[in-house]
Amino acid sequence: MGIFLAFGLHALLAGALLVTSSSLSGLQRLTLGESISVERPGDVLVSAGGTFSAGFVPVGENAYGFSIWYTHALQKTVVWMANRDKPANGKHSKLWLHNDGSLVLLSGGEGKVWEAGAGLGWDVISLELLETGNLVLTNRTGNVVWQSFASPTDTLLPGQKLTRNTMLLSERAAGDYRSGFYNFKFNDDNVLYLIYNGPEISSVYWPPQDTTIYNQGRTNFNSSRVAILDDKGFFLSSDHLNFSSSDYGPGPSRRLTLDHDGLLRLYSLNESTGDWAAVWLPDIGVCEVHGLCGAYGICTYLPEPMCTCPPGFHRADPEDWSRGCRPEFNLTSAMGSVDFIKFRHTDYYGNDLEYRNNATLNSCRTACRDDPRCQGFGIRGKKCYPKYALLNGQRTPSNSNRLYIKVPASTGVRKKDGGALIQSGLTCSNQLVRISSGKRRPDGAKSPYLKYLVGFVGALGAVEAVIIILGWIFIRRIHRSLGPAEMGHRFQLAIGFRRFTYAELKAMTMNFSEEIGRGGFGSVYRGLLEDGKTPVAVKRLEGVTQGEAEFWAEVAVIGRINHMNLVRVWGFCAEGKHRLLVYEYLENGSLDRLLFASDATKVLNWEKRYAVAVGTAMGLAYLHEECLEWVLHCDVKPQNILLDEQYRPKLADFGMSKLTERGAAGGSGPRGKCEVSRARGTRGYMAPEWMVNQEITAKADVYSFGVVLLELVTGKSATGVSEGQWNHLIRWVEEKMEGLHGMDQMVDEGLNGGYDEVQAELVLRVALLCVRTNKDERPAMSTVVGLLHGDLSPDDESSHGSLA
Ligand SMILES: *[C@@H]1O[C@H](CO)[C@@H](O)[C@H](O)[C@H]1NC(C)=O
Ligand SMILES: *[C@@H]1O[C@H](CO)[C@@H](O)[C@H](O)[C@H]1NC(C)=O
Ligand SMILES: *[C@@H]1O[C@H](CO)[C@@H](O)[C@H](O)[C@H]1NC(C)=O
Ligand SMILES: *[C@@H]1O[C@H](CO)[C@@H](O)[C@H](O)[C@H]1NC(C)=O
Ligand SMILES: *[C@@H]1O[C@H](CO)[C@@H](O)[C@H](O)[C@H]1NC(C)=O
Ligand SMILES: *[C@@H]1O[C@H](CO)[C@@H](O)[C@H](O)[C@H]1NC(C)=O
Repeated sequence: MGIFLAFGLHALLAGALLVTSSSLSGLQRLTLGESISVERPGDVLVSAGGTFSAGFVPVGENAYGFSIWYTHALQKTVVWMANRDKPANGKHSKLWLHNDGSLVLLSGGEGKVWEAGAGLGWDVISLELLETGNLVLTNRTGNVVWQSFASPTDTLLPGQKLTRNTMLLSERAAGDYRSGFYNFKFNDDNVLYLIYNGPEISSVYWPPQDTTIYNQGRTNFNSSRVAILDDKGFFLSSDHLNFSSSDYGPGPSRRLTLDHDGLLRLYSLNESTGDWAAVWLPDIGVCEVHGLCGAYGICTYLPEPMCTCPPGFHRADPEDWSRGCRPEFNLTSAMGSVDFIKFRHTDYYGNDLEYRNNATLNSCRTACRDDPRCQGFGIRGKKCYPKYALLNGQRTPSNSNRLYIKVPASTGVRKKDGGALIQSGLTCSNQLVRISSGKRRPDGAKSPYLKYLVGFVGALGAVEAVIIILGWIFIRRIHRSLGPAEMGHRFQLAIGFRRFTYAELKAMTMNFSEEIGRGGFGSVYRGLLEDGKTPVAVKRLEGVTQGEAEFWAEVAVIGRINHMNLVRVWGFCAEGKHRLLVYEYLENGSLDRLLFASDATKVLNWEKRYAVAVGTAMGLAYLHEECLEWVLHCDVKPQNILLDEQYRPKLADFGMSKLTERGAAGGSGPRGKCEVSRARGTRGYMAPEWMVNQEITAKADVYSFGVVLLELVTGKSATGVSEGQWNHLIRWVEEKMEGLHGMDQMVDEGLNGGYDEVQAELVLRVALLCVRTNKDERPAMSTVVGLLHGDLSPDDESSHGSLA
């Protein structure tokens, strides 16, 4: 007994020691031969006053970067990383102070991925993290022979110099620590610039290039090229650039970071909340940063900055906006027969072939038409700028520039555009370019129950157990910190998509007790997420034959689709024979219930109906053209249009044909993907090509959408009449329109005249375009959006015929 007690006590002490020496206070220094292991979470260097910590930080799956971060920030704020472009393995990796005095980062199974101080031969004895955040190798005489301050990544700390040899280089995306494309550095002219240095082109975006640096209070006279941020928040550079933080004075921790969106921000740490606040920004808008939206892409504020493609173009890479848009036509094969699409309030900065003063629209157009290098031109007042590349696109209401893009005359890309952009909501998943909130990975620093656990395990007398459990806690914590890691920037993603177990879903839906709908693919049940608050809709899929892995792969694609007019998919379950999807729950149910209910007109007034029309069109346009080209909906109808608490529409049930069809025909194109729906599609909404076994394209969705538009205006259902009369509603509206009857004869009587006549007529005319029998005469969904917005006229559309 006594022995056991003694042993227990011993273990307790050992355990407590372990905790204090490694995970709480961290390591003071590394001496020759010592190392920091990726697998020992307690292996963290901490500066003397505890302000900074250095250790391995997860940067991806089983990938780690050796980093320095602010210990007290709520979210792990990495200010330096040794190996940002060569992450180390999560197993057997270590930072090792070699006996020869060099610092080596060894990745398990790969060998050396980073090294510093090699061959200095200055008798290095230790590695230390200074209270300034500088990681240094010092030698026997106390001299610093290598320092992390001499090779910054994206952040400059107070006291750290920016020199002729160093620059700040942004990270690739929020939370993606790899080197991005933005630089803050001294150029050859001794001036500090913000520069976009992309794969193909590089350009300065700050200070603005339309006036000399002297006019901006800068100079290129002083060639010392040095800049420093002091500890009061004042930044001073040898080119006379200077600025102060809005909270100027000694006190808060600060950092000057070149964020992934290309903006340089000075941040201060709020000690009480652990959050960072931006205390200085250069005087430019996010859209003025170059390269954000790639070639042809246009940056707009709606109100958050985001990228769009002009009509006639689609996204080159759904994952990466910086790759811009790709034209749907071939200018070289147009043989000089070209036309121009016009955009108001829009400009593509730079890349001018020449600059013409005293120009007219006609002379500018002729100049561009006759120059095969010319891609388009901007015109402002009498100034004309023909361009050889369309980059750095920007659209703001205050911009007086008009922009003309050159297109082949034969494509049918509309000419009288009037500046319509597809103003869709978010783009795929994380591609929204958003002003950084300065939040990064949360840190898991505080651990109130660690000591308790040590005491408990210590009493069991097993030091090993302490180590194992500590390790486990850390792993758990790392997992957790990875979960909400993206909270700041990618909240949607973080809660975005996960795999549920069947038991979880059973509990969430109380054993599938509350059925809220039944559709072509199975029943839908109401449930609550684990937080007990967030309602979800859980759909039990029927007739899904895919294996778990295959199902998972398909569903992950659907999970990435993210648009304000599409119902969000939060997760799935694939277990044994069960296949389920978890969706966001929408307060007001489906459109058919509201539209065809007896009190419909009270709830759905004209404004709401019009908003439903536009929103649904934007969701469909996104599916067809912007996000993942091959997504056809195949079953557009009011039952699949759900309304949120403010009656904003969201399309449901998209991507289902991908899940229910094994290796459907057609490969990657947007064709032939609706085979299952052929059997399931809903009469009244199905395009004629369904009946005659023709190829199904996106134009089938356009048709169905047209029918929904007719229903929205007339309040009459397209279904529910006898066989053979599937297009009765279309016929009825066509006859009334031809007979030049007043709108009152067609618009839902229940509205009692409470509608906008111009809008109602517009919607009906667009609807009739959409339901043309010949699918080539129907407009593409993006065109429909433009039409409904009033940016285009249906007359142009119908005379052009096919516009895809
Ligand atoms: C320590 O480094 C300095 C240079 O930073 C060097 O001059 C000095 O000789 C070194 N000391 C020893 C003992 O090598
Ligand atoms: C800071 O810049 C302004 C002009 O932008 C200049 O007038 C002022 O002298 C500068 N201050 C210092 C300390 O260089
Ligand atoms: C150049 O800038 C440095 C750093 O700001 C300063 O110390 C130096 O006096 C300047 N030289 C001249 C000639 O102004
Ligand atoms: C820190 O944040 C709190 C809560 O938002 C705020 O009340 C306080 O003023 C902030 N402190 C500083 C120094 O900004
Ligand atoms: C465009 O057309 C030209 C000539 O017809 C051809 O050489 C070129 O490959 C085409 N480019 C693309 C991207 O199709
Ligand atoms: C501008 O154009 C007008 C008429 O075409 C001409 O009279 C004038 O001289 C031109 N001015 C310049 C600076 O070229």
